Amino acid sequence: MNRAAADLGFARLKNPFMPASGCFGWGREYSRLFALDTLGAVVTKAVTPEPRRGNPGPRLAETPAGMLNAIGLENSGLEGALRDDLPWLQGQGVPILVNVAGRTPEEYARVAEALADQDLLGLELNLSCPNVREGGIAFGVDPDLVYALVSRVGEVCPLPLVVKLTPNLADIVEPALAAQAAGARALTLINTLRGLAIDSKKRRPLLGNISGGLSGPAIKPVALYQVWQAYRAVSIPIIGCGGIAGVEDALEFLLAGAAALQVGSAAFANPLVLPQLVRGLADWLVTNDTTVSELVGEAHRGREV
Ligand SMILES: Cc1cc2nc3c(=O)[nH]c(=O)nc-3n(C[C@H](O)[C@H](O)[C@H](O)COP(=O)(O)O)c2cc1C
Repeated sequence: MNRAAADLGFARLKNPFMPASGCFGWGREYSRLFALDTLGAVVTKAVTPEPRRGNPGPRLAETPAGMLNAIGLENSGLEGALRDDLPWLQGQGVPILVNVAGRTPEEYARVAEALADQDLLGLELNLSCPNVREGGIAFGVDPDLVYALVSRVGEVCPLPLVVKLTPNLADIVEPALAAQAAGARALTLINTLRGLAIDSKKRRPLLGNISGGLSGPAIKPVALYQVWQAYRAVSIPIIGCGGIAGVEDALEFLLAGAAALQVGSAAFANPLVLPQLVRGLADWLVTNDTTVSELVGEAHRGREV
């Protein structure tokens, strides 16, 4: 019996662990440290229709319990992904979620259509991107936009769609329900929280982009709460993300309702954190005679979902 198997509904993974988008590249560097097929899946860096150079520097800032980044979706574009990165990753024997980003629903649809016949676990739609048509608000804050975008992508791409919402809003439930209604097969919660760092010597914002996305241990309670809230509202699986660095963190997300788990910032501090988590959770499951499936959502037991 594989106690660690993670059920995403549309697929069963050998364990719940995958890197969070943007924190692992396409896995080339990490593949020199460990076999990527030890992971449940790999999530790629965002792919946009055209190459993007990203934001001006500085693009990273340390914070007391995490980091701020303003990378700005730097990537080599759809053509580069299809030519160089995807064929390499497809040779590693690990299920792949390609993270997709864009400025309009049509840009998402363009990338999704081009990937539609690829051998992939699915697409992860990053809805934290600003929508150029709606004055720069993130797609994910507006349930109508979420519905329209996910439906549009579904029209051109039969692959399972995992929708990564933005946490920068008052209530995750409405956009989560909109994603589900539009055909999302799973949700990823959460992306980074918007934040700011000031360089007191220069008396200016520290990041070239002024604001950045906060990640790491500081955001874990926010992420756990959004996973908890969404679990009570939707019937599709949730992939939990935000500050996971140890087995204890992983357990907390599973208990709150996450069916699988992503690890981002922790991999910058410890590049071996993912295989260590795979082993650590497997040992914990044996010691405690339980399975991932039994743990998912268990903290809700006794409370009506
Ligand atoms: C340097 C960096 C780059 C990121 N790039 C992306 C990206 O391209 N697409 C995306 O959906 N999320 C991106 N994220 C967000 C992460 O995937 C993740 O949601 C967030 O960092 C929270 O997880 P963590 O606390 O484990 O880092 C990025 C995060 C970091 C730190």
